[in-house]
Amino acid sequence: MAVQKRAEVFKCSVCGNTVEVVDVGGGTLVCCDKEMELLQPKGKAEEGKEKHVPVVRVKGCCVNVSVGTVPHPMETGHYIANIQLLKDGLVIAEKSLKSNEEPKATFCLCGGSCDEACSCEQEESCCGSCCSCADGECQCGEIAGKISARIYCNLHDLWESAK
Ligand SMILES: [Fe+2]
Repeated sequence: MAVQKRAEVFKCSVCGNTVEVVDVGGGTLVCCDKEMELLQPKGKAEEGKEKHVPVVRVKGCCVNVSVGTVPHPMETGHYIANIQLLKDGLVIAEKSLKSNEEPKATFCLCGGSCDEACSCEQEESCCGSCCSCADGECQCGEIAGKISARIYCNLHDLWESAK
């Protein structure tokens, strides 16, 4: 299938190479002499025993994403490789994960970088320590646009859910 839009993810069914489209040329991606497969994000309907659907919580400008309702395994052979935040279908933030890390991420959308000091996961609203928001209250209002989170499991491919 020809590349059609940015942020599409394609996988090679032979070697497992998985790539994301940064810009559209219109051609067809080929790997190991085979056409790569377009991965369609899966959702709640496909959810089985292991939980992959990202849980998205928005607090002002802070977006918490965890995978999933029951934490997904994070082991050498089976792990969540990345968590992406999409707005209107484009990737606006991303966290790459190693197999020994927790399958969750906090994204601050008003210019800060959430680090150890960020307590947005515990707070009812943005904690203010991770960005320019004062007094723990976000000043930049609700995030405009359609926000969704997308994750990639090395064994179970692509999953997505909206806020
Ligand atoms: Fe998985």
